[in-house]
Amino acid sequence: MSRKPLSVVVLAAGQGKRMRSDRPKVLHALAGRPLLAHVLEAARALGPGRIVVVHGHGGEAVRAAFAGEPGLTWVEQAERLGTGHAVAQALPEVQDGDQVLVLYGDVPLVRPQTLRRLLDAAGGERVAVLTACLDDPTGYGRIVRDEAGQLARIVEEKDADAATRAIREVNTGILAAPAARLRGWVGRLGRDNAQGEYYLTDVVAMAVAEGVPVAAVCVEDPDETLGVNDRVQLARLERLWQRRAAEALLRAGVTLRDPARFELRGTLEHGRDVEIDVGVVLEGTVRLGDGVRVGPYCVLRDVTVAEGAEILPFTLIESAEIGPGARVGPYARVRPGTRLAARTRIGNFVELKNADVGEGSKINHLSYVGDALVGREVNIGAGTITCNYDGAHKHRTVIEDEAFIGSDTQLVAPVTVGKGATIGAGSTITRDAPPGGLTLSRAPQVTRPGWKRPRKDEPPRRRGGGAGTGPKPRGGRGEG
Ligand code: UD1
Ligand code: CA
Repeated sequence: MSRKPLSVVVLAAGQGKRMRSDRPKVLHALAGRPLLAHVLEAARALGPGRIVVVHGHGGEAVRAAFAGEPGLTWVEQAERLGTGHAVAQALPEVQDGDQVLVLYGDVPLVRPQTLRRLLDAAGGERVAVLTACLDDPTGYGRIVRDEAGQLARIVEEKDADAATRAIREVNTGILAAPAARLRGWVGRLGRDNAQGEYYLTDVVAMAVAEGVPVAAVCVEDPDETLGVNDRVQLARLERLWQRRAAEALLRAGVTLRDPARFELRGTLEHGRDVEIDVGVVLEGTVRLGDGVRVGPYCVLRDVTVAEGAEILPFTLIESAEIGPGARVGPYARVRPGTRLAARTRIGNFVELKNADVGEGSKINHLSYVGDALVGREVNIGAGTITCNYDGAHKHRTVIEDEAFIGSDTQLVAPVTVGKGATIGAGSTITRDAPPGGLTLSRAPQVTRPGWKRPRKDEPPRRRGGGAGTGPKPRGGRGEG
């Protein structure tokens, strides 16, 4: 059997009224990506020659969201007159010799292997309908079979009598058919039914009448064909997607302390023996090397973490690279453009932005290091701040290898601390510090003998009297 070229038609013209949203339904996110992106991914896995997306209301926003994606043909269905009408809008974009697969922009969990089974059943000359057997078939079109058990027609619930409504096998909506035949059938659809719509489902009876075999392929896991109409269903599908993702990771050798408390909103590439604690959210593209451990309640967005590194609890890392054996957190914030080399240590309440930190260097407590190049084996003391912004421009701080920055230092950029230099604690460094030496800027320490603390049982002291250094403004407070 030679396979025909495949054209996928994705129906996405629904307004999604029940979402109660200004955003088109297919742009609502599942696992961090628009619903439609999931459907397109499944479609692409089949290697189609063409993907036609039928959009309606809010179509510009949908098109804009996928502007970067090649190979999509967009068609507008100006009036929402039913699934048959929607497919009719797409068919001018499809070649007669193709096999057509109809998917739905709001049915995001369908798997490529299920669709392949459907396409195989259709084989290029036949029609195949994806069905599901449900305990509660309410709302769906019912699969009506003849005495021989062959699919005879699909009846929408609103058009069904009690006996038909009792059928538990339902139409998922997903269907495959030869393009030329489909074009003919869709062109002859009427709208004499309870909803006054052009039903795509009516092509089944037309095919049967013409002696074209129609296969019903039952989906193994009905969850795959669940659609999103409101946010309750969206939330349910999110859980299903997350469970699927978590189980796939567990099987692939990743430890998830609790698969129900792990969120993947993008893709995770991982090495061996990766451990992820509860409440971790991974977004975008995350790569975790062998033996990486991520502590509870961390958020990692577009991050690469090399082997053996550890991310401690409550850490947020975005668009950064973490080197082998590094340790980041707890409570660290690593902002875009940061690169931490091997064995670096970033501790609590440290914020890094666009910082390149060399091997073995430590920034352990309460610091801000931004727009900085930090060499190897540097120690940055608590409370160090790179003053990188002058209100108009950003400036760079360079700290060379083996430098030691005393606590509570401000490095007013642009500034360079030379190799092996030591900066005394509490310094404000505005000029380059030479290599090797000690540089500090500090007011000399003074002690005033005889000074007494104010007491409540004494009248307030007058300014300028006592041990002060000169007149002070009225209303100021005493020392201490
Ligand atoms: C449809 C099927 C029904 C099936 C059910 C599965 C028909 C006539 N009925 O019913 O047998 O059990 O799906 O969920 O096909 N759409 C458009 N343009 C339109 C109408 C619909 O793009 O003019 C899109 C919607 O955005 C949605 C999909 O088609 O993604 C299905 O439309 P919907 O109205 O939900 O179909 P149902 O009436 O539920
Ligand atoms: Ca409908």
